[in-house]
Amino acid sequence: MQHRPEYHFTPESNWMNDPNGLIYFEGEYHLFYQYHPDSNVWGPMHWGHAVSRDMVHWEHLPIALYPDSLGYIFSGSAVIDWKNTSGLGQKGKPPMIAIFTHHNEDSEQAGGNQYQYQSIAYSNDKGRTWTKYQDNPVLHNPGIKDFRDPKVIWHEESGKWVMVLAVYDKVMIYHSPNLINWTFSSEFGIECDTRLWECPDLFPLTVGGSAEIKWVLLVSIQKDGPNKGSATGYFIGDFDGKTFRADKENQQWADYGKDNYAIVTWSDIPAEDGRRLALGWMSNWEYAESVPTESWRGAMTLPRELKLYKEGNDYHLRSLPIRELNSLNRNTTRLESQHIDGPSRIDFDTNGHLYKIELVFKDPGEGIVGVRISNGHGECLDVCYGGADKVYYIDRTQAGDIKFNNAFAGVHIAPAGYKRADVQMTIFLDVASVELFADNGGCVMTDIFFPSAPFDRIGIFGDPYPVILESGSLTMLNNELY
Ligand code: FRU
Repeated sequence: MQHRPEYHFTPESNWMNDPNGLIYFEGEYHLFYQYHPDSNVWGPMHWGHAVSRDMVHWEHLPIALYPDSLGYIFSGSAVIDWKNTSGLGQKGKPPMIAIFTHHNEDSEQAGGNQYQYQSIAYSNDKGRTWTKYQDNPVLHNPGIKDFRDPKVIWHEESGKWVMVLAVYDKVMIYHSPNLINWTFSSEFGIECDTRLWECPDLFPLTVGGSAEIKWVLLVSIQKDGPNKGSATGYFIGDFDGKTFRADKENQQWADYGKDNYAIVTWSDIPAEDGRRLALGWMSNWEYAESVPTESWRGAMTLPRELKLYKEGNDYHLRSLPIRELNSLNRNTTRLESQHIDGPSRIDFDTNGHLYKIELVFKDPGEGIVGVRISNGHGECLDVCYGGADKVYYIDRTQAGDIKFNNAFAGVHIAPAGYKRADVQMTIFLDVASVELFADNGGCVMTDIFFPSAPFDRIGIFGDPYPVILESGSLTMLNNELY
């Protein structure tokens, strides 16, 4: 199956975009997703469904939500209604409730502007079967075309549900006692922004090394990301249950690669775990519908843990691969600390296996250090750090099939995470994707690629030589997941 990832989630067949309704309940992580079961391009949206006990090994389940007379089922979230505030639970057990956008294609085609509104559905059997609420929608459209992607959280201090909603070029915040009756609280945006915002998320995080709590507002922005195309940004600030106030006017970026969109986080992770776990769709609206896969289209990123750190007066997110991914590890080859003085010094044959590559280089000054992943067809992908601008970059201009869309080929750039003497890179290589976690998760890039034969060589290189590798390892990853 050409280009099918081995340890990233993909639909069994046909089209997938955003992760939806991420929730943990009774030992299972749920992943719902935007799904078009009848074709490998976008169309009438359903919620596909899978569950996992570790976010690494997934079991496909039947479609959870089908389009109905109110419309397609667009993106949204899920909660456990622990106190049965909705009254939709049964036999003293809390219901799982999905909050999503109904998108009415007919009324959009008819030229109206009230074709997106918010609805709910509930499940009393661990997400296996779903009933749509009888009086949907629960939040009507106030006359705004783009009014979608509800993320709902329980706000403990005010004892209310809070919904954050993407509304064209900003977010609106609502609150509710019962998930059914919603009241407008406030809105948040950047002055004069005209970009389309989608898939927001709002959650508190403790600032590393302190007891301080800040709130993070994630927003996906459909165009004009840091390397063009769609990308997920974030704001850090404070939230009192009604109003979000950002410390800074402009968003930061959660991932500088081209292929990590609609990042949202899991609800109801138990307090004793306490992590904030996120997942994104590993594609970009610029070319998502034309990537060269056939029977299926779309993959998710690796699940990541989000953390906050403070540098000077500024707060930034760190993204790290979740520890559960260690269950993929097979044998590790350690690399000695050494001067690399030529291109063939470390050139590793993968023998058809996939690898996690962990490297620490001495800062190359104005030079370049990094990894070239290649095959015998003259195709290669570079993941590097350096140059006068001191940036991380991924170059996929020669990584195989690039012709399917003009916006695909490119060199994608990210500023380094923070100031330090070493260059630290952790790289996860799958069949058709690379994820770079640099500077301890302070700089993250995700890119997809489509070589004509599998990449089977990993070369460590520099320019100019010699470069100093301080430590490194290559860990073979298990490829028998499903
Ligand atoms: C983001 C998005 C959402 C919408 C969904 C439709 O990728 O455009 O705003 O709900 O995809 O599939």
